[in-house]
Amino acid sequence: MAVGFLFFSFRRNREFRRKKKNMKNKDIIIFDTTLRDGEQCPGASMNLREKLEVARQLARLKVDVIEAGFPIISDGDFTAVQAIAKEIKGPIIAGLARCVPRDIDAAGEAVKPAGKRGRIHVFLATSKIHREFKLGKAQSEIIRLAVEGVKRAKSFVSDVEFSPEDGSRTEPDFLVQVCRAAVDAGATTINVPDTVGWAVPEQYAALIGHLHDEVPAFQTGQAVISVHCHNDLGLAVANSLAAVRVGARQVECTVNGIGERAGNAALEEIVMALKTRQDFYRGFRCRVNTREIVKSSRLVSRMCGLIVQRSKAIVGENAFAHASGIHQDGILKKRETYEIMDPQDVGWGKTDLPLTKHSGRAAVASRLRHLGFKMNEADIAAIFSRFKEVGDKKKFVYDDDLTALVEGHITEIPETWSMEYLNVTSGNQTVPTATVRLKRIEKKKGTIQTFQEAGIGDGPVDAALKAIDRLTKTNGQLMDYSLRAVSQGKDALGEVTVRVNFGHGEIMSGKGASTDVIEASARAYLNAVNRFLERTPKEKAKKSQP
Ligand code: KIV
Ligand code: ZN
Repeated sequence: MAVGFLFFSFRRNREFRRKKKNMKNKDIIIFDTTLRDGEQCPGASMNLREKLEVARQLARLKVDVIEAGFPIISDGDFTAVQAIAKEIKGPIIAGLARCVPRDIDAAGEAVKPAGKRGRIHVFLATSKIHREFKLGKAQSEIIRLAVEGVKRAKSFVSDVEFSPEDGSRTEPDFLVQVCRAAVDAGATTINVPDTVGWAVPEQYAALIGHLHDEVPAFQTGQAVISVHCHNDLGLAVANSLAAVRVGARQVECTVNGIGERAGNAALEEIVMALKTRQDFYRGFRCRVNTREIVKSSRLVSRMCGLIVQRSKAIVGENAFAHASGIHQDGILKKRETYEIMDPQDVGWGKTDLPLTKHSGRAAVASRLRHLGFKMNEADIAAIFSRFKEVGDKKKFVYDDDLTALVEGHITEIPETWSMEYLNVTSGNQTVPTATVRLKRIEKKKGTIQTFQEAGIGDGPVDAALKAIDRLTKTNGQLMDYSLRAVSQGKDALGEVTVRVNFGHGEIMSGKGASTDVIEASARAYLNAVNRFLERTPKEKAKKSQP
């Protein structure tokens, strides 16, 4: 009896030490899903060049994992995951898959070029509501499919993540069973998604703590607990941080918090909360290079056509702006009176000397390299010619102007239509009229034709868009329109972002930049039209399915 008791207490002590040891490891893995869950946001879709540019920036930001896409979903996603796996060095490259053989095989093939840094992320819904109404499967069947999915993924890569979708609404004891089975089948990360943004911090932390206590692999470090929170109640970041304190060691998030519906946990908020509040999150750290945060935010915003709200934490235009006199006075006396973070720590601040129209090609090329763009000679030539156009109209070309030109160039999907000429007349006594001349480029036939049309509208922008509709035989409805000055000064480049509905749920974003706002608007709209016309047959078929 006494020996039994001693043995029991020895085991308990050993268990306790093991748990404590694991809790001592406070390194947080930042898993970025901007290119997968972020891109699921309507209108946020990116083309290959845009995705690669974002992936390069995520590598500079030093995230640990890039979830590059969902390879089975489209040829575009497959190619993007594969290209990212081939080019990007440093982070782990993950591809998403349902627990379905063809999904897993596609993900395995796509992440292959990343070698040992390839990860397959398989998911399967586990909550009662999903089991009964979506899948029509019993608990035992769910466990069987999860185990098969993990095992199949394991045949491609050793790094396998499993997500019980709608995990936060799954019965906790069943969730424990699923997690144990997935770990036994070889999963090295178990991600617990709050798929519908239902969780609240105390409850979500209790669930994660329960899993940590009930699944031995989490205590030994054999498997990592990950969290993936959606923002339907505005609690995604709070839920993720609460989970970190009770054992989660991977946080899934997106730049600017973009994602399905109200979005995902915002990467910049998670990272800066951990860094700024070290008094509370003592010892928790991640590898992210915070000085790259603002640059990443702007790039993602431009590539997806999703504007960051001015008051957004960390990366919004107003995040470090102090309007009230009392605050300004305090800041001048001691910055920390009203500022909890140093804006330079997240990449706000100094800009280099601007270029002018006299700057040569070498100077522009060198500034592009300095800004982190990897460009070939043809790209540099194209940017340089746009730079000269802008330089003629504007005294100084700032880094932000140059970045907008580059991003406009990256965004140009193989242009079916390109703008050659635009003339508008408008005034308070005239009907706004626009004349637009477009070039139609048929790469396959090797032909270029020019077409011209005129349109009238409620205003000059409307007139220009109507003329474009006639020329391209499309009929888009403008859903969102925003204009922002890219840099300082009255002659600043205006950057227009639009979201256009082409019917049947086909929403495309577009952007364009020019010193003339009407031209920028027409360019942005044409960009959305080109995206719409460039969809692959598979993408078109997918959208027309009920
Ligand atoms: O929100 C979710 O459940 C997901 C999973 C695929 C991880 O995005
Ligand atoms: Zn999600």
